[in-house]
Amino acid sequence: MFKIIKRKELAPTEFDILVDAPRIAKKAQPGQFVILRIDEAGERIPLTIVDTDAEKGWVRLIFQVIGKSTAQLATVMEGDALIDLVGPLGKPTEIKNYGTVLLVGGGVGIAALFPIVKGLKEAGNRVLTILGAKTSELLILRDECADYSDELILMTDDGSLGEKGLVTKAMEDVFQREDIAFTWAIGPSIMMKFATMTADKYNVPIYVSLNPIMIDGTGMCGGCRVTISNTIKFACVDGPEFLGEEVDWDEFINRMQQYRGEETQSNERYEEQVKQNG
Ligand code: NAD
Ligand code: FES
Repeated sequence: MFKIIKRKELAPTEFDILVDAPRIAKKAQPGQFVILRIDEAGERIPLTIVDTDAEKGWVRLIFQVIGKSTAQLATVMEGDALIDLVGPLGKPTEIKNYGTVLLVGGGVGIAALFPIVKGLKEAGNRVLTILGAKTSELLILRDECADYSDELILMTDDGSLGEKGLVTKAMEDVFQREDIAFTWAIGPSIMMKFATMTADKYNVPIYVSLNPIMIDGTGMCGGCRVTISNTIKFACVDGPEFLGEEVDWDEFINRMQQYRGEETQSNERYEEQVKQNG
């Protein structure tokens, strides 16, 4: 069992938890993820590891309530325990000194970007970071990212904090004035697709982190298959990071939308059940 040692509401529908998991805390590297289950009947939920403390033995996870399982996860309180936490899974980010790097995070994807910002700064890079969200209260981890960035640019869709506009607007500005060796972009699929197009325009290589539906997390079930350079890959073992220019974005975005109907139905059933149980 994996005890929740701290739980905080970061933003409306976004939660930040520390889970007691010493073995994972010792091994995890930036870019890796875990798959958790709340109870025996629970669905498997993949979440990127945001931070770890090997001495204290915790891993930090941030999630957004987007369906039945994440709504249920939001009801797990400090002192409660998860039945399963498997990881660290996936290939770590290639952390080394590239020179000047650009890190772009959108919405709750900022949580997955943070460990890479931290890792690249600690490896001696000059780190420029762009964070974007719909509105100021959803612009999470601003202070943590600022601590590890030489420059932090904030963007909001409604202009409530930083500049008004999408992250790709800020990327254009940076590419026009800086010589960027490598870029990472993590956020909604549509953002990563357009971030890739923007980086391609300036001939800057870009990594994206793909988060398709995952079941076993071991490369056996095929649930997380993605097409990379016309070849089938499994995001859980071959990724989650891939070069943006090699991703078949149309297929990826279609597959991400494929289960929307079932997810909505399952969420409605869960909400009804919660209402009935008072
Ligand atoms: P959101 O929809 O609020 O978008 C966040 C930011 O992305 C926007 O503020 C904007 O700057 C940028 N963006 C959005 N559409 C864009 C476009 N067409 N062109 C350029 N930029 C654009 O984000 P949210 O609601 O927090 O997103 C949740 C999504 O993020 C979920 O679908 C989840 O699956 C995904 N996510 C992905 C990862 C990952 O590892 N890739 C991790 C966590 C969450
Ligand atoms: Fe099953 Fe990746 S989650 S192959």
